Amino acid sequence: MKADEIQRSGSFGLSVINILWAIMGGTRYSHDDVQFRDLLNKITALFRTGNPSGDILDVIPFLRFINSKIAGYRERKSATINGQIFLRDSIQDHMKTFDENAPRDFIDVYLKEMKKNPMFTAESVSNSIDYFWLYMVLNPDIQKKLHNEIDSVVGRSRRPSLDDRPNLPYLEAAITESYRVNPIAPQTPHHCTLQDAKLRGYDIPKGSAVLLNLYSVLNDKKHWGDPEVYRPERFLDSNGKYVKDEWMINFGVGKRICLGESLARNVVFLFIATFLHEFNFSVPEGDPKPSTYPTPGFTTCPQKFRIRMKQRL
Ligand code: HEM
Repeated sequence: MKADEIQRSGSFGLSVINILWAIMGGTRYSHDDVQFRDLLNKITALFRTGNPSGDILDVIPFLRFINSKIAGYRERKSATINGQIFLRDSIQDHMKTFDENAPRDFIDVYLKEMKKNPMFTAESVSNSIDYFWLYMVLNPDIQKKLHNEIDSVVGRSRRPSLDDRPNLPYLEAAITESYRVNPIAPQTPHHCTLQDAKLRGYDIPKGSAVLLNLYSVLNDKKHWGDPEVYRPERFLDSNGKYVKDEWMINFGVGKRICLGESLARNVVFLFIATFLHEFNFSVPEGDPKPSTYPTPGFTTCPQKFRIRMKQRL
């Protein structure tokens, strides 16, 4: 081998990771650091055993119980666990000395962002508000009733506030109905069973991936009668008082229920109440009636549509 040739065998790995990790985690590791070298070797092995189009374990997952070496399962698992431990420890170290005003690296910036509001959550709130406008332009009669309620409770001389929320039952019902008819999260993220469980006669083994189909509950025909219809009145009693329905699980249920629920509810309410107080919403002349069929994705949102906003006097 000539002097200016080197063998491509991951020799640069540690240096490259050191540069990236200095930006991410603010630490540089010695080339002799045994723990860091071990992690790097495992990650390299992980990438070598992986296959972007999937492998036999994706088709027959239980094979890992018969031979855990198959398709590199054992290496993958060990590299993943080591990676998680490494990241968890680094984040915990950062939290101990975290100063919001002096971010040292990407982990600090991320911790600061997490304190403010995760991006995903901003998306869920703004998509929920978009769905509400969609049902407003499609239902001018309901919008009129909301304008009347806001005018009689808030008046025209001030803006709505959170204190008005209990006194605006029709608005509360209209927002809840938009959460129901087209939920931004039709299903929850995956969870994992910690022990063997039984559900309606089905055995669910420990370690199974489980997710909730929220849409099926929010649009159950037997419970709601006409789930496809946007009808806020279903959340009002005969005296016009807002009534909760335990089938409204658009923020999830159980231990992993949405942590931002009350914040989200308040933000959505305040935003919608303020805009409804000020504007009339309609479909611009000549535009087609917007579709209620959602745009799919990690969360859903309405299809693109235009709104005409006219200031109320
Ligand atoms: C209208 C807006 C929102 C809706 C409809 C919504 C809905 C959901 C749903 C369905 C889940 C999954 C629950 C489960 O897995 O069982 C979830 C999880 C979560 N949400 Fe929200 N969310 C909204 C806004 C927010 C906001 C504003 C925040 C934070 C400020 C937030 C923070 C979280 C967190 C941290 C989780 C994970 C909880 C866990 O796994 O323990 N969400 N949300």
